[in-house]
Amino acid sequence: MDAEFFSVEHTHTQLDLAPPVEQQPEQPEQPGPTLPTVTVVAEGLSKSFRFAGEVIQAVDEVSFAFTEGQFIAILGPSGCGKSTLLYLLGGLDKPTSGELLIDGVDVKKLSGGQEHRFRRQKLGFVFQSFHLIPGLTALENVMLPMELKGGMTNADLHERAHTLLRRVGLDENRHTHKPGKLSGGQQQRVAIARALANNPRVILADEPTGNVDSRNGKLIIQLLKQLAEQGRTVIVVTHDRSIAEVADVRMEMEDGQIKTMENYVRPINSRSLPQKQKKGRKR
Ligand SMILES: Nc1ncnc2c1ncn2[C@@H]1O[C@H](COP(=O)(O)OP(=O)(O)OP(=O)(O)O)[C@@H](O)[C@H]1O
Ligand SMILES: [Mg+2]
Repeated sequence: MDAEFFSVEHTHTQLDLAPPVEQQPEQPEQPGPTLPTVTVVAEGLSKSFRFAGEVIQAVDEVSFAFTEGQFIAILGPSGCGKSTLLYLLGGLDKPTSGELLIDGVDVKKLSGGQEHRFRRQKLGFVFQSFHLIPGLTALENVMLPMELKGGMTNADLHERAHTLLRRVGLDENRHTHKPGKLSGGQQQRVAIARALANNPRVILADEPTGNVDSRNGKLIIQLLKQLAEQGRTVIVVTHDRSIAEVADVRMEMEDGQIKTMENYVRPINSRSLPQKQKKGRKR
C-alpha cells in the first residue's frame, strides 16, 4: 500500500493539474481512483488497570486510522502496552475511554451477541500463547470458527481447514494431531490458520513468529504480507526486526502512548470520531 496515495499534498497536486473548465474534453466523466476502505479507526483509545491501589495506564490516548491492504507492525519494549492495544482492537478487552470503529462499525454500540458475531466475521486473532482448544485436533480447531459462523457443509469445512493448514505449512500428517502433540511452532501455525478461517477483514497477531524457527518465521511473515496485499488489514505486535522491515507502517509505543508512526499518513477518507472529555488521572 502506497501511503502517499492518501497524502493531502497528492490530492492538491491532482486538483492543481486539473484542466481549466473550458478545456474539458467532451467525454463522460471518468470515475476517480477508489480509495482503499478504512478498516480500523481508533480515537483517543485508552485502557487503565487498577492494581494494588495504583492505576496503570496500559494504553494512553492512542489514535490512528488504517485501511485495507496495510501491514502494520507495533513495536516497543516489554510492558509498553502492545498486547493491551491489540486486545482492545480485537474487542477482547473494553477500553476505559476512547472510540473504535472496525469496518465502519462502532463496536461499542453492538449488543453482546451482535458483537460476538461481528468479531467472528471481521476479525482474526492470533494470540501470543495460541489459545488452541486442547481437546480438538488441529483440523477441528481451524474448523471451529467456521462452524460457529455456520452456512458451510461438513465437507466444505474439512476442505477449507485442510487448505488453510497446508497454506501455513503444517504437514498433512499433523492435521489430526491435538495441540499437545504439536511443537510450539506448529501450534502457532494452527493458530494462524484458525484466524484466517472466516476470511477476516482485519488480522491481529501478537508475536506470531515468537515461537517458530527462522525458516517457519519467514513463511509466516510472507503469508501475513500476502494477506495484506490481498486487501486485509494486518496488525502485528512484534519484536522481530524482519517483520518490522516488511511492514508498511511501523508504530512504536512507549508507556502506553504512540512514540513514532513511521511511514504513516492518515487516510483522507477516515471519519474522525468525537473524543470524550479527558478525565484527570494518575499514571
Ligand atoms: N490484567 C492486567 N491487570 C493489571 N495490569 C495489567 C494487566 N494487563 C496488562 N497490565 C499492565 O499493562 C502494561 C502493558 O502490558 P502489555 O501486556 O500490554 O505489554 P506488552 O507491550 O504487550 O509487553 P510484552 O512485550 O512483554 O508482551 C504492563 O505494565 C502490564 O503490567
Ligand atoms: Mg505482549
